[in-house]
Amino acid sequence: MNPDHQQSTPRARVAFITGAAGGIGRGIAEHLAELGYSLGLSDISEDALQTVANDIADATGVAVSARAADLADRQSVQAAVDATVADLGGLDVLVNCAGILKDARIEKMDPAVFRQVIEVNLIGMLTTTAAALPALRCSGSGRIISLTSRAWLGNFGSTNYAASKGGIAGVSRSLSLSLAPDGITVNCIAPGFIETPMSNSMPAHILDRVRHSIPVGRVGRPIDVARAVAFLGDANAGYVTGQSIPVCGGRSISGSIRKDTVSA
Ligand SMILES: NC(=O)c1ccc[n+]([C@@H]2O[C@H](COP(=O)([O-])OP(=O)(O)OC[C@H]3O[C@@H](n4cnc5c(N)ncnc54)[C@H](O)[C@@H]3O)[C@@H](O)[C@H]2O)c1
Repeated sequence: MNPDHQQSTPRARVAFITGAAGGIGRGIAEHLAELGYSLGLSDISEDALQTVANDIADATGVAVSARAADLADRQSVQAAVDATVADLGGLDVLVNCAGILKDARIEKMDPAVFRQVIEVNLIGMLTTTAAALPALRCSGSGRIISLTSRAWLGNFGSTNYAASKGGIAGVSRSLSLSLAPDGITVNCIAPGFIETPMSNSMPAHILDRVRHSIPVGRVGRPIDVARAVAFLGDANAGYVTGQSIPVCGGRSISGSIRKDTVSA
């Protein structure tokens, strides 16, 4: 064959996931690896991140670039994104998944803790998105998918967390307008109760009440969220933008009391 006519092998689609060492982040990474994505993984927890990266690379054989970063440290976030682009040849899907939960009643809410949750969850999402934008623009089918929460509708004791997640939803709707001409879609996934270390940190009696309020009758799993990420991240999903998709087993609908918990 004439070497002038040889085409370079197209690279695999690349996703960069923050919070990849956590319950949902790992689930998303595993699912995208099964779908053939190359993965840029990041988390503040370096050892746990390396374990996830090694496990996924060993199990699936996909290319994985792992680099620790703190969402509150702009330079470390930029370095992690840059490492992914350099190691994997580009970037198509950004998944803003890292987040923290520090609930307290308003009377006991330390303003420093309020600021910390906004800094990590909301400003961190903005920082990561800004760092990834040049590479996403080059993709031609860039996708930004951010984890909000059903809690942004309002949750007892969650003023800081709900503010951060509602902020992400507003940022995403606005960004979807400015990035549409670049072929980049911007969407959110609002999980309900997904069984992970974060959700299991709630007091037992609250966990029990939450479990009984899920209309489909079971708690969510990371794979439930990962399947929604796979849909939104697909190159063919370009007509869905500026949206928030609840993945909550129906809990975001009305008061969410399951039928079998109500006496006739
Ligand atoms: N589990 C649920 O029920 C649930 C429900 C709604 C929304 N969410 C959202 O989904 C996302 C993932 O939640 P999860 O349940 O997997 O939580 P998780 O605690 O298991 O994972 C969160 C990850 O974020 C990382 N992280 C924390 N601070 C960071 C920082 N400053 N910089 C970089 N990484 C940092 C942690 O190390 C951890 O690995 C979060 O944004 C959370 O708000 C979770």
